[in-house]
Amino acid sequence: MNRREAIKVAGVAAMMVAVSAEAKMAVEHMNRMEMKPKDPAKLDKGELKHTPLITVKGKDAKGYTFVEITIGQGGIMHPSTADHWIDFIELYANGKLVGKSTLEPEISRGAASFSVKLDSVKELKARAGCNLHGIWTSTVKV
Ligand SMILES: [Fe+2]
Repeated sequence: MNRREAIKVAGVAAMMVAVSAEAKMAVEHMNRMEMKPKDPAKLDKGELKHTPLITVKGKDAKGYTFVEITIGQGGIMHPSTADHWIDFIELYANGKLVGKSTLEPEISRGAASFSVKLDSVKELKARAGCNLHGIWTSTVKV
């Protein structure tokens, strides 16, 4: 390896270290604590902002029901800024994972939808992760 190649390799290695440190910092800042409202019958503003709202809509010709999940209830929408956003939404039917959406800050807000066969499903559960405020869950009977 000549001097020019060695400098190039060192530069690439330095960039990889920088990118890896940045990715590590982002992961370290994810709050993955499972959150529960203090009083489920009376959610406070922060709890309303993070609790998934599950809306069961119409069934299509193939028998799949459109299920929409938005994050925030009572007219309070969760923000989506570079340092505070909903980074994933999952939907479960009778405890079995239906799907997961991974969301990017700023360009998307906390919303996802799935088309689901609900024939023998009794319960839908949504989980959503806020990078700062943890993982929030809500459940509906169908
Ligand atoms: Fe949050």
